[in-house]
Amino acid sequence: MSDTDILHAFNPQIQDPDKIQHLSRRGFIGSMMAGAAGVAGASTLLSSVSEAEAAPEPDLPDIPDMPPGGAAADDEAYWEKVAAQFLVRDGVIFMNSGTRGISPMSVHKAQTEAVEAVNSDPAMCWSTYFFPGMDKIRQDMADFVGADVDEIAFTNSTTDGMGLGFMGLDLKAGDEILTTNYDYGWVKNMMAFRAKRDGLEFKMVDISDPSFRVLEDPQKVIDVVESGITPKTRFLTICHINYTDGFVMPVKEICEMARAKGIITLIDGAQPPGMMKLDMQDLACDMYAGPGHKYMMAAQHTGFLFLRNDAADRVQPLVYTGSSDPDWAIEGARKLEQRGSTSYSDRISIGAALDFHNKLTREAVEARLRYLALQLRQGLREIDGVTVYGSDNPDLSMALVSFSVKDLNPSDIVGRLWYRRPSIYIRTVGAAGDFSGVRATLHVMNTAAQVETLINRVRGLASN
Ligand SMILES: Cc1ncc(COP(=O)(O)O)c(C=O)c1O
Repeated sequence: MSDTDILHAFNPQIQDPDKIQHLSRRGFIGSMMAGAAGVAGASTLLSSVSEAEAAPEPDLPDIPDMPPGGAAADDEAYWEKVAAQFLVRDGVIFMNSGTRGISPMSVHKAQTEAVEAVNSDPAMCWSTYFFPGMDKIRQDMADFVGADVDEIAFTNSTTDGMGLGFMGLDLKAGDEILTTNYDYGWVKNMMAFRAKRDGLEFKMVDISDPSFRVLEDPQKVIDVVESGITPKTRFLTICHINYTDGFVMPVKEICEMARAKGIITLIDGAQPPGMMKLDMQDLACDMYAGPGHKYMMAAQHTGFLFLRNDAADRVQPLVYTGSSDPDWAIEGARKLEQRGSTSYSDRISIGAALDFHNKLTREAVEARLRYLALQLRQGLREIDGVTVYGSDNPDLSMALVSFSVKDLNPSDIVGRLWYRRPSIYIRTVGAAGDFSGVRATLHVMNTAAQVETLINRVRGLASN
């Protein structure tokens, strides 16, 4: 069978009928309210669903309870049950949460049922369900990242949050704005665009020297970033985790250094929320943009922007619609969110995703992902011809594992892993300084057995 035949042999339907039958019927509006993904205020909506309409509900497998004393990172029996909460097709190993994540069943269900609520109860769903529900979800989101509730704006993606924070910041002609050459292309483009429009000076420090990529001493990268700062620098953005090589930047130290010089900081947090425990107060950044749809495992088109209360006056909305009460939500991060109607059914999924994370606990998830990533890095390092980027130092690496295989270009690696069964889904990554490789991003839908499969498949590629 050719590679193309294998691709076409996939049934585009989700292949596990037992899983999917739980997830999308009108009668499940009731169960949404009672289940793990329930949303405050939802019970009023429930009462509008007649009992006759509510079909008997097959049981949705529960999010597994923690074993007594918590789930150890290597407790495969427990984590296999967690992995079984996802709808990924048989024959597919999904290792790309860092680009676009997938939702476990409870989150998928909360989202689809919220869509059903819009279409089946269009009059009442807003006041009885979505609006009160979002207040609770905003508080839960704030708690999840160690922020004040007024410091959270819901956005549509990381990039959306980066744009709201950066494009709305009070900068003037002649100000310098700074990032690194390892930061995300869309963010660099945004900075170049505004620099041209408003007469700003756009600068990038070069952190591509390999000694920064296997860095055991974070001070080196702090010094490099500091070397790009001049008395005119007003704004600094860096990735929390470099999306290329998985290097965890010393965000706290860099933000404290920037703050002491009067520079406002915006962190590109595309990867960490849902992967590692976050505390905005401790990180010392002024702004932090994250997605809902990657490691958080909420729906696509979701995200958040943290805007520190004492920086809020410096960032103004680019579009501001307010609400029927003209004074409502003008202060704080929420002012950035007032942009007309949005997809509440997507945003509702954030609540269910937070419930899912909180049930597993952030500590257990972080320990599990560190464990899997360490297995993968160590297994790959033993293969001749494979270069693994990143460090085993837990302060400097997390669940992104980037590597290259001698003589194979990254797209070939990705293609060969995908077009043979089981199909392993990872992506290529490239950055300045000739850095190019592939990246596996591990999450709780992955098991130790899947990590072993990836290692064995890469061994096969390297030996050919
Ligand atoms: C570092 C970084 N920033 C921004 C983005 C874009 O994220 P989003 O799709 O949430 O806009 C990505 C996506 O992978 C990323 O890795």
